[in-house]
Amino acid sequence: MANSERLTRRAPAKINLGLHVLRKRDDGYHDIETVFHRIGWSDVVSVEPADRLSMTCSDPDLPTDEANLCMQAALDLQDAAGVMAGAQIHLEKRVPYGAGLGGGSSDAAITLLLLADLWLSADDAGELPRAEVHAMLRDVAAGVGSDVPFFLEDLPAAYATGRGEILEPLRAEVGGFELDAPLVVVVPPVEVSTPDAYGRVTPRENERPDLRSLVASADVTRWRRELVNDFSATVLDAYPEVASAHDMLVEMGASYVSLSGSGSAVYGVFDDSTNADAAEVQARARGYEVGRGV
Ligand code: C5P
Repeated sequence: MANSERLTRRAPAKINLGLHVLRKRDDGYHDIETVFHRIGWSDVVSVEPADRLSMTCSDPDLPTDEANLCMQAALDLQDAAGVMAGAQIHLEKRVPYGAGLGGGSSDAAITLLLLADLWLSADDAGELPRAEVHAMLRDVAAGVGSDVPFFLEDLPAAYATGRGEILEPLRAEVGGFELDAPLVVVVPPVEVSTPDAYGRVTPRENERPDLRSLVASADVTRWRRELVNDFSATVLDAYPEVASAHDMLVEMGASYVSLSGSGSAVYGVFDDSTNADAAEVQARARGYEVGRGV
């Protein structure tokens, strides 16, 4: 029997701990390396059985047709798995979009996980082995967007290469790295287009620190010196609102401040929660959206 109930899951956003743009590829994408880190700020996705595929969203500004990554993911999974059934998808949107927090990518990944439970559940006759289902989800996810595969994995953080879709756990020997410090993520009221940001960035040549060991060191003094997001210079220059949010976190005592993805979100890692709380108050007073915690 396939699932007949409404299934619900949180879709957590991410920040990037360092991001190197390595080269432009023939397919128009860029090879990058970065560390994705999941954060507590989340949307909520639910699915329930239906004859056809449709979607609703709490945010009236977002599309609910195949222009929405959730619907695109659902349609691609129907194709890949040869599924005839439909589903009603609902998205509670809480994470700002166009912010470099991977909200839309996470929504799509969580939709895939929920629909796999709904459509390909383990007690169905002709069930696919779990590993095969997961491999199919990974393929579909990579087709939907470069950041989508990370959100399929149950990992707090991962080192990503290729377009961002090739993943390795950080420090696999200890079950992965996890940030353990007060975190404040702020989003100024401006959207940055990812393709535009890639268009402006100059890919770096060979010289770069070993991102995996640098992040896993959790040495914030080293991070301040060496952990770089290659979009920072051009995005902070082109968007004064982003530069101002960045400077505010520095002034409020964050020990490491960085752009997430291509922005507009910036985050601060703090030594203590008193400074982090004060930064949150200040950010809200400026009208920024704020997320806390890993
Ligand atoms: O993969 P995704 O659809 O999220 O990418 C959006 C756009 O960002 C791409 O069309 C491309 O212009 C740019 N991009 C890139 N290199 C990457 C990821 C994204 O050039 N690794």
